[in-house]
Amino acid sequence: MSKVKVAINGYGTIGKRVADAVSLQDDMEVLGVTKTRPNFEARLANDRNYPLYGISKESVKSFEEEDLKTEGLSDSLLEAADIVVDCTPGKIGAKNKEALYIPKKLKAIYQGGEKASVGDTSFIAQVNYISSLGKDHIRVVSCNTTGLSRTLGALSSNFTIGNTRAFLVRRSADPRDSSKGPINAIIPDPLNVPSHHGPDVKTILPELNVITSAVKVPTTLMHLHSLMIELKDGTSGEDIKSLLEKTRRVKVLHSKEGFRSTAELIEYARDLGRSRYDLYENMIWEDSIIVKDSEAYLFQGIAQESIVVPENIDAIRAALELETDAEKSMDKTDKALSI
Ligand SMILES: NC(=O)c1ccc[n+]([C@@H]2O[C@H](COP(=O)([O-])OP(=O)(O)OC[C@H]3O[C@@H](n4cnc5c(N)ncnc54)[C@H](OP(=O)(O)O)[C@@H]3O)[C@@H](O)[C@H]2O)c1
Repeated sequence: MSKVKVAINGYGTIGKRVADAVSLQDDMEVLGVTKTRPNFEARLANDRNYPLYGISKESVKSFEEEDLKTEGLSDSLLEAADIVVDCTPGKIGAKNKEALYIPKKLKAIYQGGEKASVGDTSFIAQVNYISSLGKDHIRVVSCNTTGLSRTLGALSSNFTIGNTRAFLVRRSADPRDSSKGPINAIIPDPLNVPSHHGPDVKTILPELNVITSAVKVPTTLMHLHSLMIELKDGTSGEDIKSLLEKTRRVKVLHSKEGFRSTAELIEYARDLGRSRYDLYENMIWEDSIIVKDSEAYLFQGIAQESIVVPENIDAIRAALELETDAEKSMDKTDKALSI
C-alpha cells in the first residue's frame, strides 16, 4: 500500500512528536519538516532523516551555513504533500491557511493555538471522527480541551449529566521554555471566570453546560484538572470508574500503587519507555472519583506536549478518508504508539 505524504510545517514541541508518530504508522510517511532557524531541532531533523526545508531563502541559507542538510524552500514540500500538519506557533496557522494551503488546494490539520474558525471542524477522534471525514481544514483542539473533551465526552454519552465545572491547574511553560515564569507565584489566568477552555470544549461537545476557570503554577510537567459534574440519573462513583477504565486513551490510576502526583505519572512514562516521557492518555486518579449529593468529582493529569499527538494522526486519516471507521483508525494509531 502506498503511504500518504505528510508535510510537518513547524518542527517544534508538537511538530517533532507528530513527525515521529506519523513515521510509526503503516499508511503515512513524513515527506519533510520545516523550520525557520538552524537550532538543535534542525539538527535532530537531519539525524532522523526527515527532509528539512526552510520557510524563506534566509532560513535555507542559515541551514547551509551551519552545515545542515536542507532540501530548500518549504514551498516545494507543500506542493508535493498530500496533507500538511501545521504545528507553527499559535495564530501562524491561520495565516498559512490563507497564504499557502488554500492556494495550493492542500488539506491541513491545525493545532489548538489557532482559533476554532481556522478549521471546518474542531476534532477529537473519540467524539467526532465520522463527521470530520473528508474535511479540508481540521483543528485538533488544545491539550486542555482534548483532556476535558475525552472525559466529558465519555461521561455525557453514557450518563445524563448537568452543569459541569472544571478548575484547571496549568503548567506555566513546557520543559524546553527557559524564558517563561512564574517561578514563585500562582497566577489566575484569566483573572475572571470563565476561562476560554469551556467554550472550546463546546466546539466538540456543543450540548454541554461547562464553565472553566484556570490558574498557572510553577511546573512544566503536566496540567491537572479538577472536574465537578452534576449527575441527573443516579450514576454512582463505581459506574464512573468502570466506564473510565474501559474508555480509550484514558488511564485510571491508583494511589495505593504510588501515584500521588504528576511527578509519579512522568516517572511512569519514563518506566514505560515512552519517547520524551510522553503520555498520550488522560491520567485519572481512581481515588479522586467520587459521587456526593448527585455530583461527581475527579482529578486528571494531562501531559500537554503529547496528549494531542494521537488526535493529529487520526485527523490525518479522517481528512484523507484513509479509514472511514473511527475505531479502526484509533486502533491503528494506538497500536503504533503503544497506547
Ligand atoms: N506545547 C504544547 O504543550 C502544546 C500543546 C497543545 C497544543 N499546542 C499548540 O501547538 C502549536 C505549536 O506549538 P509548539 O508548542 O509546538 O510551538 P514551538 O515549540 O514553538 O514550535 C513551533 C515550531 O514552528 C516553527 N515555526 C515558527 N514560525 C514558523 C513559520 N512561520 N513557518 C513554519 N514554521 C515556523 C518553529 O521553528 P523555529 O524554532 O525554527 O523558529 C518551531 O519549530 C500551537 O498552536 C500551540 O498552541 C502546543
